Amino acid sequence: MERTFVMVKPDGVQRNLVGEVIRRFESKGFTLVGLKLMSVSRELAEQHYDVHRERPFFAGLVEFITSSPVVATVWEGEGVVASARKIIGATNPLTAELGTIRGDYGVSIGRNLIHGSDAIETAQREISLWFKDEELVSWKPSLTSWLY
Ligand code: TYD
Repeated sequence: MERTFVMVKPDGVQRNLVGEVIRRFESKGFTLVGLKLMSVSRELAEQHYDVHRERPFFAGLVEFITSSPVVATVWEGEGVVASARKIIGATNPLTAELGTIRGDYGVSIGRNLIHGSDAIETAQREISLWFKDEELVSWKPSLTSWLY
């Protein structure tokens, strides 16, 4: 089953948007298979944003991601990689559609609240970068009688 990596960035955690982010993915129908609050090392931040290493915003981005805790999550479901990108919205919150997380809550491109993998291969790379195998839990939502 397809999986993607979604991280609530330091600004999202500071603004108490963790619950809102999780709610949106749960409500859509995706399954949470990994979740942790963590401080990010400089090494992990640099590896995560490796493709942007030569960009002018790279140093500031690493500084920001390591500045206070993030919430790292993995979500599972059909088409979850592309759907997560839709739920999150465009990189610049000012142009992101209303109804998306960045469009509803963000203003600045450097403080856009949340990260989501941009392709299936990227998702696989990011999930293994952020999570150990044993931190991920495979489970199926139950429709049995104990669920009210
Ligand atoms: P990018 O991978 O282009 O966007 P996305 O997060 O939507 O996949 O860029 C990674 C992050 O880098 C982005 O979320 C915010 C930051 N960033 C800037 O601070 N300034 C910029 O001009 C760009 C393009 C990105």
